[in-house]
Amino acid sequence: MTRLIVRPPSPHLADGELTHLDRVPVDAALARRQWEDYVAVFRERGWTVSEAATADEHPDGVFVEDGVVVFDRLAVITRPGAPSRRGELDTLVPVVTGLGLDTAVIEAPATLDGGDVLTVGRTVYVGRSSRTNDAGVATLRELLAPRGWQVVAVPVTRVLHLKSGVTALPDGTVVGHPPLVDDPTVFERFLPVPEPEGNAVVVLDEDTVLMSASAPRTAGLFRTRGLEVLTTPVSELEKLEGCVTCLSVRLR
Ligand code: GLY
Repeated sequence: MTRLIVRPPSPHLADGELTHLDRVPVDAALARRQWEDYVAVFRERGWTVSEAATADEHPDGVFVEDGVVVFDRLAVITRPGAPSRRGELDTLVPVVTGLGLDTAVIEAPATLDGGDVLTVGRTVYVGRSSRTNDAGVATLRELLAPRGWQVVAVPVTRVLHLKSGVTALPDGTVVGHPPLVDDPTVFERFLPVPEPEGNAVVVLDEDTVLMSASAPRTAGLFRTRGLEVLTTPVSELEKLEGCVTCLSVRLR
């Protein structure tokens, strides 16, 4: 099974939360076209797409990955660190439960954003960021340890989420732009990339990754490692501290 959960961007995307970037004008119509192109990449690769209901009153609602994280058959419903984002779950959770997954819920005072969760093999790196607190990390550890996952907390101060700074290639190599990474030594294998937008990859299969069109030199670097690299423009979503990873929840 390869399934993608997404939600179309709100026309009010420009009003979304910003933590490390300055607010700049956002072209909402272009954002919508970029989102459609992003989803089309997955459809063309045979993924089934589940769309959450529009939630235009939530400017950040397009970043669905922050609301749910899936481990095998367990979907962890998060409690986003930004109070403005918690209402997004009302229309996201029904999609998850409709897929028949087991669910667990992060409860107050814990907070967890899915963008802070990076899985590499059976290791789950969790960013201790401005959005994910110690209780969030501890709750995830309690849920996952009995299921055979090791949870490792990682400091995140330079970017919004852990995955705003690092993601992983299909072979488990963690990739990141060094100025955005607090401590690359926590990862078993770390590959520096030359562009800030180059840190975010979505693994489509063992040989293929999807990444932003904003990082052509990084795409070239990954190709020299034998990967097929697909790129798609997400400039309008990057203005809101989004990237190719947080635009979807992937179920494999
Ligand atoms: N704009 C994405 C977020 O701050 O959650």
